[in-house]
Amino acid sequence: FGLMSYDPAFLNTASVRSAITYIDGEAGILRYRGYPIEQLAAGSTYLEVAYLLVHGELPTAEQLHAWETEIVHHTFVHESMKRLMEAFHYDAHPMGMLIASVAALSTFYPEASEVDDAGNRMLQVHRLIAKVPTIAAWAYRHTRGFPYVYPENDLGFTGNFLSMMFRMAEPRYTADPALERALEVLFILHADHEQNCSANAMRAIGSSRVDPYSALAGAAAALYGPLHGGANEEVLRMLAEIGDVRHVPAYVERVKAGDFRLMGFGHRVYKNYDPRAKIIKQTADSVFEVTGRNPLLDVALELEKIALEDEYFVSRKLYPNVDFYSGLIYQALGLPATMFPVMFAIPRTAGWLAQWLEGVVDPEQKIARPRQVYVGRGERDYVPLERR
Ligand code: CMC
Repeated sequence: FGLMSYDPAFLNTASVRSAITYIDGEAGILRYRGYPIEQLAAGSTYLEVAYLLVHGELPTAEQLHAWETEIVHHTFVHESMKRLMEAFHYDAHPMGMLIASVAALSTFYPEASEVDDAGNRMLQVHRLIAKVPTIAAWAYRHTRGFPYVYPENDLGFTGNFLSMMFRMAEPRYTADPALERALEVLFILHADHEQNCSANAMRAIGSSRVDPYSALAGAAAALYGPLHGGANEEVLRMLAEIGDVRHVPAYVERVKAGDFRLMGFGHRVYKNYDPRAKIIKQTADSVFEVTGRNPLLDVALELEKIALEDEYFVSRKLYPNVDFYSGLIYQALGLPATMFPVMFAIPRTAGWLAQWLEGVVDPEQKIARPRQVYVGRGERDYVPLERR
């Protein structure tokens, strides 16, 4: 195949130049725009991090205020979106509802297809960061048969999301500050992760210059898969299936025998402890202080301990990734496992949009169109049906 290189799954091919997120997988380092993830998780807020990802610099107080106001202004969705969501079956997966509803949003904003207009692009960025949590919360309420709760914009980004999720009869829902902060940290940790499967999908779809709602629906679809953002849902199922610390060794043996993978372990880039998993483990403690300890935490801790000492995992450099502990926190917050990938998609929206913005203005980013190595048949003559 001539000078073409064959690199299935882009194991060794950089598809873009990017100034957004830096990962050193060997050292377990993650930085957004140069800022270590540990410092952002300790001191920042999700919306500030979203600004950083999208604009490239931390905002001044004035810029942050304007950004937050702009986003808050867009948290409501059109009433027809509500009717669209009501049409889903009662047991529809919330991630399926999110993907379909985000795609549907493009029909409400036809001007979004004008991707060459910078002001127009930024308007869609504000809208998407604002509206995805509303749709996500409504998808959850739909699965429960609860009435949808409208945004309350003085509550802050995570507080408002928790209110749309959990408010029942009370006139106003006030989240526990420790839980609200824990969610803020989880959102910060999930905001971007350079050229992962869904970011790559966002860029590839966006390179056709389609509107960002359609591209983001495609990115969310990529995230839905069990090898990507669907892994946190699988981790919880796995922990529940193991059920007891005494069953962990036998389970690990089956993983080693190739029966199935240890979900929440391993990463294409990290060949060391995922720095996000470290922070999530600490965050879990602050959540369990409020909600009570999740009994599956002991199963997770035992799994990690055994795996980290085992030759199979050590030689393959398989460590816990971001999904290993996040599901335990989401479960403690009262969320069903089907909501876990949605909880990943909400904050990743900022990362997808930052990746999309970077791609659409980069003159080197032509339409994503890889080549192939053809391994099919050579030319042959069509055989009529009666002669086959
Ligand atoms: N359990 C058991 N063995 C594993 C695992 C695992 N979780 N992950 C990789 N391996 C083995 C794999 O079988 C292979 O062994 P061998 O060399 O003997 O064939 C070796 O490790 C290399 O695996 P790979 O499939 O070539 O690695 P990859 O870089 O293509 O896959 C991965 C990365 C994340 C898809 C994979 O580690 C995996 O499937 N993990 C479980 C799912 C998961 O937790 N995904 C979340 C990823 S992090 C957040 C996100 O992206 O959403």
